Amino acid sequence: IPVDPFDLVVIGGTGDLARRKILPALYRRFCAGQMPEGAQVIGAARTEMDDAGYRDFVGAALDEYAQPAGCAERARFLDMLGYVTLDALGDQGWSDLAARLDEGRVRAFYFSVGPALFGPLAERLQRHGMAGADTRIVVEKPFGRDLASARALNTDLARYFTEGQIYRIDHYLGKETVQNLMAIRFGNMLFEPLWNSQYVDHIQITVAETIGVDGRGEYYERAGAMRDMVQNHLMQLLCLIAMEPPAKFDPDAVRDEKLKVIRALDPVKPDDVVRGQYLADGGRPGFREHVGNAESTTESFIALKARISNWRWAGTPFYLRTGKRLRARTSEIAVVFKDTPHSIFGPEAGQHRNILTIRLQPNEGIDLGVTIKEPGPGGMRLVDVPLDMTFAQALGPEAEDVPDAYERLIMDVIRGNQTLFMRGDEVEAAWAWTDPIIAGWTEGAGAPLPYDTGSAGPDEALALMHRDGRAWREIRA
Ligand code: BG6
Repeated sequence: IPVDPFDLVVIGGTGDLARRKILPALYRRFCAGQMPEGAQVIGAARTEMDDAGYRDFVGAALDEYAQPAGCAERARFLDMLGYVTLDALGDQGWSDLAARLDEGRVRAFYFSVGPALFGPLAERLQRHGMAGADTRIVVEKPFGRDLASARALNTDLARYFTEGQIYRIDHYLGKETVQNLMAIRFGNMLFEPLWNSQYVDHIQITVAETIGVDGRGEYYERAGAMRDMVQNHLMQLLCLIAMEPPAKFDPDAVRDEKLKVIRALDPVKPDDVVRGQYLADGGRPGFREHVGNAESTTESFIALKARISNWRWAGTPFYLRTGKRLRARTSEIAVVFKDTPHSIFGPEAGQHRNILTIRLQPNEGIDLGVTIKEPGPGGMRLVDVPLDMTFAQALGPEAEDVPDAYERLIMDVIRGNQTLFMRGDEVEAAWAWTDPIIAGWTEGAGAPLPYDTGSAGPDEALALMHRDGRAWREIRA
């Protein structure tokens, strides 16, 4: 859908997220013909720089991060960029910034900075006459570090902006496959009747990464995997899997349903959580070296069993796990259906289960494991085969060029569509569930368990499922 010319201000415009994600995403939308003539992108940060300097800076960022490379008209994209030297906590730059913006068009301020600056930035936008009804603000995670701080942030922002102007990003919601999850559930007749505890044995959500926390040690030591990944990304996946069908695909209808899921989550029992920390490996430092604390008790891996106490899901556990430096970079959701009530083929046919796997990365796609007869005259032997819907295969080369989550989300801000953004009450509810889990550790549960680089996390995480007579799916590329 074409959009009208807009002004987008990236506060923290020289930072890591701007270089790696925001600016390359804008460039790719430009190359796709989605940036209207006359749109303006203004970087703002403390560094002294002029427009030309910023264009060079962004050019270098595109060389490094805009892969696959963009289009021929790169110079025209760079011409859309400007820069204002801005003191977030002082007065410098604010009137320059105001003077650069055009009246009467959508303006969005992307707060690509730490949460401590959200309130002060919002206040200055208002003081300098930039907080009108056409203004939208975009805030990155982490949205606080617990319920109290998230509430305080919501209260601060609400002084200057309505909820409809606040776009809280969780980039997992911008991933193609995550949106596809809703298409699969609510665009087909096939799955929804089975989507409940009567037919689903359990659900597994895995977000495994191979990278460590190098370069982000300071942040990570304070956050840990629970705050960095579970409270937001995994929680969002869980909500989309578990929610009731919204009446419409519109922001509040979807977010109301997600909120109900979070509120129906049971407190997690300490025995149902396993935390881990990756060890040094050959020449590569371990987690404790990366965060610069030889006694760190922060986790780089977490596995837990969650339960949702509602009519649909009572009795079906949700197992979540995520970690750094694991065997492969792979993210998937697996819906594991129950055994058939009775096997007419006798014990030698074996027990077979349908598993619906939604792969977020790599090779985005959906795969449904079905049981069929093994070909040949050898009697009724059963075998599982995948009904594979790898998007790139099914939809042709266009599907291979999957837009980055940020491309989708930034354009949604400009269009004014909040469906894929978190509402304030949703974030607070997620913290309300997370806080007691974290409090349990700080009250002396000891250090996380060590695990090897390239493994599937500590063995205890495997045991978490084994003791329920279940097993994690393999982590493989
Ligand atoms: C970020 C986390 O939000 O998500 C990182 O802070 C993590 O620790 C990243 O690596 C994972 O995102 P993706 O899109 O690479 O799966």
